[in-house]
Amino acid sequence: MAQTAAAQPATVTCEDCGRRYPLVGDIPCLVHDPDRTLAQWRARVHAFERDNREAQDRLLAQLVGSGDLHPATRTRTQSLRDALADHRLRLTTLARDAGVISAPGAQNDADGVPGESTLTAYYHQIHRDWGWEEREGERDENGETALALAEVEHVLGPTPRLGEMLVLGAGACRLPWELHRRYADSTLAIDLNPVPFWVASRILRGEAIALFEFPIRPRSTESVAVDRRLRLDVTADCASRFKFAFADGLDPPVRPHAFDTVFTPWFIDQIPKDLTEIFATLHEYFRQVAPGSTTGR
Ligand SMILES: C[S@@+](CC[C@H](N)C(=O)[O-])C[C@H]1O[C@@H](n2cnc3c(N)ncnc32)[C@H](O)[C@@H]1O
Repeated sequence: MAQTAAAQPATVTCEDCGRRYPLVGDIPCLVHDPDRTLAQWRARVHAFERDNREAQDRLLAQLVGSGDLHPATRTRTQSLRDALADHRLRLTTLARDAGVISAPGAQNDADGVPGESTLTAYYHQIHRDWGWEEREGERDENGETALALAEVEHVLGPTPRLGEMLVLGAGACRLPWELHRRYADSTLAIDLNPVPFWVASRILRGEAIALFEFPIRPRSTESVAVDRRLRLDVTADCASRFKFAFADGLDPPVRPHAFDTVFTPWFIDQIPKDLTEIFATLHEYFRQVAPGSTTGR
């Protein structure tokens, strides 16, 4: 891909076909119809703002309409309402920084998984991946990424070498990142959901991103809205070899046999497609390996 420097919006050009694709927050949007995808994302921001305001209004109605609210309930409701206002600002700023400005329209994406057409789809995974370790100043006893990494390492055996890795449905990217920094030469992460990629790509550039988590089961009044500063110490060289692309994981814009490893974390079991068809397609992306070679997986 060749990248333009000056023109707005910035684009990348496919070296094979010459087609130009927009960069959305520094991430190339390599979908079949980028204008349609961008219109959907603008509509998602718009719907998120509307829903967020409605949620705040409902909380305000509880605060002013119920004189007999328990003091703890009042405190919790007020904190939640305050946090929702900041949450809206933070997410819309994240989108705006990527060049996606709120606009009404259709937010459905026929290519994606049903239920993934909101701005906050899989939002909790961002906190699971980049925030939970620092919960209340302690390491997360849950350690989901560590557990998943151990499972993958078990399958990979004693000397994993992932070479050039393609990750489909990479989401918030922590597990792909941990595999990349240990075992891969380079990684291309693909997904269609914008917010987790915007956050992950900025964290891997060394930025700290402030976001609220709204736990389903808060452990205390204070934790109805957890204000996190998501960041990670990364080596710039290692991070520069971890690339992102918005693209359809079922039809990724990659050359056949370009990768040593194709990783599909919680993806092939999620998409509404027959596994035998998916495996036939995935096979196309693997680098051809000479019989007896130990370099491919
Ligand atoms: C269950 S989540 C898993 C995310 C991440 N791999 C993890 O383990 O937390 C499924 C992911 O697949 C992505 N996805 C769904 N359909 C897709 C498609 N056709 N192409 C690329 N990504 C897709 C979703 O946006 C979401 O990030």
